Amino acid sequence: MPGDNAKKALIDSLNGLLADYFTLYLKTKSYHWHVAGPNFHPLHLLFDEHATELFGLTDVIAERVRKNGGDTLTSIASIAAKASITDDDRTKIDAMDMVKALRDDNAALVKAIRAVKAAATEANDNATEGLADDWTDQAEQRVWFLTQTLA
Ligand SMILES: [Fe+2]
Repeated sequence: MPGDNAKKALIDSLNGLLADYFTLYLKTKSYHWHVAGPNFHPLHLLFDEHATELFGLTDVIAERVRKNGGDTLTSIASIAAKASITDDDRTKIDAMDMVKALRDDNAALVKAIRAVKAAATEANDNATEGLADDWTDQAEQRVWFLTQTLA
């Protein structure tokens, strides 16, 4: 049986990941809304696809917390308290700087998912372990698309 500490660590790790997904969702949406320049149209569409993917996993992650017996995030303030991905409140940003920031943030997300998977292994949570591989593949695809956009 996994100890309470392993379960608590997993819950904390999942809530941190959830905060990062919400933060990166809104940052990506803001870039979708504010991007400008000759690449406006493809970037506007790419950022929206990525935002939709990010938002799509928030419910899955929150419900993994609840299925593990934990409380999850309740508000914008609770997201801000837990997130490690930084906000960007600027509205005039070079389009390629947006792409670079999102590439780096999604690469950081890959690492955070790896930490969640390790915590899930410790807590014997097979379902989260399995899901984490799909989350990784999706995040790596975003990193790939963003990296190729910069080539
Ligand atoms: Fe839109």
